[in-house]
Amino acid sequence: MRRLTVPRIRARKKDGHTEQPLVMLTAYTARQAQLLDAHCDLLLVGDSLGQVIYGLASTVPVTLDMMANHAAAVVRGSYHSVVVVDMPFGSYEASKEKAFESASYLLKQSGAAAVKLEGGEAMAETVAFLNQRGIPVMGHVGLTPQAVNVLGGYAARGRSDAEAGKIVSDAKALDDAGAFAIVIEGVVEPIAIEATQAVSCPTIGIGASAQCDGQVLVTEDMLGMFERVPRFVKRYEDIASIIDKTVATYAEEVRERVFPGEEQTYQPKD
Ligand code: KIV
Ligand code: NA
Repeated sequence: MRRLTVPRIRARKKDGHTEQPLVMLTAYTARQAQLLDAHCDLLLVGDSLGQVIYGLASTVPVTLDMMANHAAAVVRGSYHSVVVVDMPFGSYEASKEKAFESASYLLKQSGAAAVKLEGGEAMAETVAFLNQRGIPVMGHVGLTPQAVNVLGGYAARGRSDAEAGKIVSDAKALDDAGAFAIVIEGVVEPIAIEATQAVSCPTIGIGASAQCDGQVLVTEDMLGMFERVPRFVKRYEDIASIIDKTVATYAEEVRERVFPGEEQTYQPKD
């Protein structure tokens, strides 16, 4: 199976309609990518790895090299999905030239196909600049976690008319700038639908609406591996309790000298 391409993802939305929603999940490691790859259209190396992998309080401290290293692992662990890498806070906002330098570094270090960055109208010029120079860009509007210090938290967006209008015009600006897809995060449903109808490229919802052209979740959240999750996460499994039970059994067997048993022990003649 040949790897999907950005143009094929973009083309899944035709005349404002997406027949089969796009499936995206986050991946941070090679093994995780192997397990998810065949089921997904896109794997996102999200800067959520700041909290999920590194125990940071937000995505703000995440660095370019953290993203590049995890993206390289995810590319090595996948052969089917389009791999998209988040541009971390501070690596792209200052200028379109700085953004190109950071984005090209990410793609060269990892082999990923595209980057994602947060922001709407303010980033449109940058999106066009990168796209015209060989770097496909996925946009991200609504609740943009890198702006937590401006927003003051992670509450859903689009409840006031001003906020709602801004989300739709941000999505339009990214679409006009050539974004191949747009993540809509933490947005009240009518606004997610309006934004989806307003753009020609696919929208990918997270805490948005089933009417988006695709969906994404943080894999650890949907597997039940992360402690605190927003209301929009559906927990499909409770992997944390499986790990807890399994590790408790291991610890007990070590303490009781049950493990290692004969099967796991080398003898001179076997
Ligand atoms: O970093 C991330 O995981 C994301 C998705 C939640 C869209 O940006
Ligand atoms: Na992100």
